Amino acid sequence: MVRKYVYGTPFETEAVIKEVAAETGLPSYGKISLEEGFSFTYQLAEDDIVYGLGEANRGLNKRGYCYISDCTDDPKHTEDKRSLYGAHNFVVISGEQNVGLFFDYPSKMVFDIGYTRENMMTVSCERADLYVYVIEGANAYDIVKQFRGLIGRSYIPPKFAFGLGQSRWGYKKREDFEKVAKGYRENRIPLDMIYMDIDYMQDYKDFTVNETEFPDFAGFVQKMKDQDIRLVPIIDAGVKIEDGYSVYEEGVKNNYFCKREDGSDFAAAVWPGYTHFPDVLNPEARRWFGDQYRFLIDQGIEGFWNDMNEPAIFYSKEGMEELKQSIGKYIEPGETDIPKNELGAQVEALANNPEDYKRFYHNVGGEKIRHDKLHNLYGYNMTRAAGEAFEQIDPDRRFLMFSRSSYVGMHRYGGIWTGDNMSWWSHLLLNLKMMPSLNMCGFLYTGADLGGFGADATRDLVLRWLALGVFTPLMRNHAAIWTREQEPYQFERIEDFRGIIETRYRLVPYLYSEYMKAALGDDLYFKPLAFVYPDDKIALRVEDQMMIGNEIMIAPVYTQNARGRYVYLPEKMKFVKFGKDGVYTEEVLDKGHHYVEVALDEVPLFIRAGKCIPVAKAAQCVAQIDTEHLELLGFEGAEYTLYEDDGIHKDYDHSSNYRKLK
Ligand code: GLC
Repeated sequence: MVRKYVYGTPFETEAVIKEVAAETGLPSYGKISLEEGFSFTYQLAEDDIVYGLGEANRGLNKRGYCYISDCTDDPKHTEDKRSLYGAHNFVVISGEQNVGLFFDYPSKMVFDIGYTRENMMTVSCERADLYVYVIEGANAYDIVKQFRGLIGRSYIPPKFAFGLGQSRWGYKKREDFEKVAKGYRENRIPLDMIYMDIDYMQDYKDFTVNETEFPDFAGFVQKMKDQDIRLVPIIDAGVKIEDGYSVYEEGVKNNYFCKREDGSDFAAAVWPGYTHFPDVLNPEARRWFGDQYRFLIDQGIEGFWNDMNEPAIFYSKEGMEELKQSIGKYIEPGETDIPKNELGAQVEALANNPEDYKRFYHNVGGEKIRHDKLHNLYGYNMTRAAGEAFEQIDPDRRFLMFSRSSYVGMHRYGGIWTGDNMSWWSHLLLNLKMMPSLNMCGFLYTGADLGGFGADATRDLVLRWLALGVFTPLMRNHAAIWTREQEPYQFERIEDFRGIIETRYRLVPYLYSEYMKAALGDDLYFKPLAFVYPDDKIALRVEDQMMIGNEIMIAPVYTQNARGRYVYLPEKMKFVKFGKDGVYTEEVLDKGHHYVEVALDEVPLFIRAGKCIPVAKAAQCVAQIDTEHLELLGFEGAEYTLYEDDGIHKDYDHSSNYRKLK
């Protein structure tokens, strides 16, 4: 049961696509105050669990901290951070009462979930212009499914996107990409994608390719495809200001960029130096920007990652001007004491300065709206620009696409990767905990930078993280330019990496099938144990094991030097460990606590009682996986319904896509 309440004049974010009639009166849950902006308070019962918030810091149960929906480019996801790149304002309170709440509001929103007062949840924002959706249901899982029905079907990538991707900021020349392809293929490590970070472009200009390095880009794309490897270029939000650069010139001519109050184009520095931001909230500009992707699609590209779209700002012209004035002030004649700290702080505050978000405007249907008032919708609409364009360019084909910044609604157009994490063990665990929350908010095609983006990775961290990545739909190893190289072939005993990645490919028929069932059924791919075992008091609080699809549970090892871990089984399960060369072990374990040993080169999983999963032979790429000869692993006599399609087109709803295996 979904109820919709309207406060003030909400901005139409288009997060929700189902028609719901607005209620009059007050929600029967919590208290609303419209005195100072908007606030909603809810008295939490002692045992209530609060799920949701998608891409947010900390645990699966969000209780006990304060989170702020405010899309932010912050590369240090330490425990004290309140905002990450996305804004996913959906929470479910689960306990004596079960209720889901979606606050459809396009800018900064605070979720104090038992932070100020242990048993009080307060959701607040500055302007009382929003929609609040209140969802009642039998339990948290039921509420989540209703919410998913409300916001529309999740993005479905092409099947190759379930293969492994290798990435690194710093691959620049043709040889760099060839080296990766060779490193994988010669070592017989499966691979489907190599990502192209900003250096493939000419001077970081969107929709250009460095022609000195790639004189025949289309030919190069094809050459890679001949080895079953797709190149996936990055697209950044900011368009470089440069005379003669057609994207810049067209944007200026047609008023497609965000403008200052005085009507001039707002300038912010990002990787290319000063850029303009395409006004993706303006449908005409959105159409224009999306259509630019054609330049790469025409050269054989089938996937993209959209970045810096919070939008990230290194500094604005105005910010720089203010800094210059401060410096000027301190170097007046007679001034001896330059306050370094103050200046240092001012330099630091230049980047992603909230003041800058008040300095530019969008043109939404002729109405001028200041950016800070709809800040959280920018990345969503950049990705939507591309998604809508793909529909025009090749309506039957699926494209791979994911974004860094997002809002609910973007889940229909693309996935997300969780941005600049670190090569830290704590971030491996954060990755695991975030997955079900993201799924609840519609984002199914998701994953983190495996091995960690910032800081130097170690061999054991990369192995353990890949062993989790085996199960995340987006499986990509990515790292920052200044860090230790972390492609599998950079480490000793490459066969250990090969074994883990081969396990991914052996499981792709199952993982893809479960992904598709989740996407088509508005269901979850990653679930908290509590959603499957709601009456099990121990399962209710488990945060380091997750259910995947309908058959399995995972319990990754996330501690350095551990040889295994403790695991809780809410029912009898078959414990399977995949090792190298197609070898695996299986053992039935009873309900209860167990210590399981897991070596660095093994991928553990648990099959639920009475269930089984299909397993393929390893292959070098997704296209080569033999789905005709699948082995069933699990409990005697169990059956499995496999979903399979061509992985390219959009013919999803066919009964012939389902096949019973026994
Ligand atoms: C941002 C992205 C990161 C990328 C880098 C360079 O930090 O989050 O993934 O490698 O920019 O483009």
